[in-house]
Amino acid sequence: MRDETIAIHGGYVPDSTNAVAVPIYQTVAHEFSDAAHAAAVFDMDIPGYHYNRLNNPTNEVLERRLAALERGVGALTLSSGTAAVLYAIQNLAETGDNIVSAPQLYGTTYTLFVHVLPRQGIEVRLAADDSPEAIARLIDDRTKAIFCESIGNPAGNVVDIGAVAAVAQRHRIPFIVDNTVATPLLLKPIEHGADIVVHSLTKFIGGHGTTLGGGDRRRR
Ligand SMILES: Cc1ncc(COP(=O)(O)O)c(C=O)c1O
Repeated sequence: MRDETIAIHGGYVPDSTNAVAVPIYQTVAHEFSDAAHAAAVFDMDIPGYHYNRLNNPTNEVLERRLAALERGVGALTLSSGTAAVLYAIQNLAETGDNIVSAPQLYGTTYTLFVHVLPRQGIEVRLAADDSPEAIARLIDDRTKAIFCESIGNPAGNVVDIGAVAAVAQRHRIPFIVDNTVATPLLLKPIEHGADIVVHSLTKFIGGHGTTLGGGDRRRR
């Protein structure tokens, strides 16, 4: 499927109503056909839904669609792009760890990195510039991730994703790329060696300005 088609139809198989637009499943829980079915879903022996904090059929369409566009193995949707950045880092780093980031960041990401994460014991080291050399210089054995925006907002700098990915691979550190400004239609960081891609879904990728969302995609 071409990206243009994935953007509209990806990740969606119509349910028994054959609705063409993705339905909003406004439910918290889902029925089980019997106890054995419930047990299998809870044990994750078979795919299914039981409680929508864990997974949700509407969000899952978006997750599959985003993963397909970014060529990732899977995705997680969240309430906002800032939540996606936070989840990506908290999943990798704990108190005493650090992450190394390119310095050109969206304002709220900067606030998160410089004022919030340090209070949780995670140091964010901002490189002097976005070059692989400047980033490599700050890595030590407590570095749990490298972070950058593929196109910085608002700086407009274009990071050499392949070169920074090579640094990450050399140090065996996951490389997180915020691909909000570029969108997967212009650039797929995973194809250049990134491990995790995050998005603010209110920008070009949503194109509507009506609904907040964040995404967190992983490579195979
Ligand atoms: C590059 C980038 N990353 C992250 C964010 C934060 O996303 P959100 O506003 O959805 O929390 C934004 C928002 O403008 C952004 O431009």
